[in-house]
Amino acid sequence: MNNYKEKFEKMRIAGKLAAQTLDMLTENIKEGVSTAYIDKLGYEFIRDNGGYSAPLFYRGFKKSLCTSLNHVICHGIPSEERILEDGDAVNVDVTAIVNDHYGDTSRMFCIGKPSVKLNNLINATHESMMRAIRILKPGIKLGDIGNEIQSFIEEKGFSVVRDFCGHGISTTFHEPPNILHYGTKNTGMELKPGMTFTIEPMINAGEFNVKMLSDGWTAVTKDKSLSAQFEHTLGITENGYEIFTESAKGYSKPPYL
Ligand code: MF3
Ligand code: CO
Ligand code: CO
Repeated sequence: MNNYKEKFEKMRIAGKLAAQTLDMLTENIKEGVSTAYIDKLGYEFIRDNGGYSAPLFYRGFKKSLCTSLNHVICHGIPSEERILEDGDAVNVDVTAIVNDHYGDTSRMFCIGKPSVKLNNLINATHESMMRAIRILKPGIKLGDIGNEIQSFIEEKGFSVVRDFCGHGISTTFHEPPNILHYGTKNTGMELKPGMTFTIEPMINAGEFNVKMLSDGWTAVTKDKSLSAQFEHTLGITENGYEIFTESAKGYSKPPYL
């Protein structure tokens, strides 16, 4: 891919705004606040900083970000009724559009002190994403990414969700290729400089099976086990990678404050 420098410049700006939004939300995600309030804060922050929230009106989604609690795997819809309680774990997934380019990132947040099991799940999920990121460079294959995540996660006794995956991202929210979080080494498309995509493993404490709720969006674990997720937007460089959605405050995984 020639001359991807300008694309990377714009991905950097969009990614930075998405990460800053999560940084800003960090101190506001606490016991007693509704997930709709988190959504409102995220919407306003992105708007006030020159961006637009990609989820809003995306395929009929009516909120600006996703809040996925406990056994919700992904695409949880913020609501006035759902108030954060002690012991909750929530993934907040933010996607900002700036100058037609997308930055997509999510982190886990714990309300109060997490259980040992939840803490292990969150740490393993974050580590699986980082292990996959660290191998990125031209010449490796998509299957290497999936294999890195799957082998690490299954060793821990957790499972990798199959029904949702990472995705190419640039001037559209979701574009080819699909980035599977499971797979076989040395299989699939070869990575090339200039490619931009997300890695966003969804990891369940129990089985990987998914159930969809009747709202058409909320995906939960079929066995009601806990689920965790982190997401970064990345680009492939000449000899490695660049993370566009890194926290400037060092908020990579909980505890943050
Ligand atoms: N941000 C999600 C992703 O990582 C997509 C959310 S789509 C929505 O791809 F409509 F549910 F917001
Ligand atoms: Co994504
Ligand atoms: Co996302």
